[in-house]
Amino acid sequence: MSSPAPYRVLFVCLGNICRSPAAEIIFNAVAAEEGLAALVQADSCGTASYHTGSRPDRRMLAALERAGFSYGGHRARTFRRADFSEFDLIVPQDEYNEQDILSLSRNSADAARVRGMWQWFAENERERSVPDPYYGGAEGFDAVVALLTRSMRKLVAELKDKLIQA
Ligand code: 4NP
Repeated sequence: MSSPAPYRVLFVCLGNICRSPAAEIIFNAVAAEEGLAALVQADSCGTASYHTGSRPDRRMLAALERAGFSYGGHRARTFRRADFSEFDLIVPQDEYNEQDILSLSRNSADAARVRGMWQWFAENERERSVPDPYYGGAEGFDAVVALLTRSMRKLVAELKDKLIQA
């Protein structure tokens, strides 16, 4: 029997150099830790094209390294309509990203794949979006890594229940 197609998750932010590549890196690490590596596949992209082809921001890579995560070589790309057909779950980091993605959706099935990252925040989180760390200092990048790590633990636990039959 062939193995089932992996469940595909796409993380989206504005530039695809800070928040969404970090989400992808952290998701992959947590999924591997939980034994889901063969069952899921992640990618990330931006709603804007101005950083297309760039590596993640060096300040984000430094924050990821401080938290024990390593960069696997992602280059920035822009969200495209075909992503609705290629991914099971599309995760914007803030409400602007969500609006931009939904404005490209073709039907309700496309829109139903979109679930904001805040759905996996803890109930006591103050934020309703992953804050954009681009114009701030290192502590903002560390806070994003911490918030994404908490969120990815919840998302991966949800996928584990869904993808591994008891
Ligand atoms: P990201 O952060 O959306 O988390 O990748 C940003 C990256 C670049 C810019 C803004 C936010 N920018 O204005 O160039």
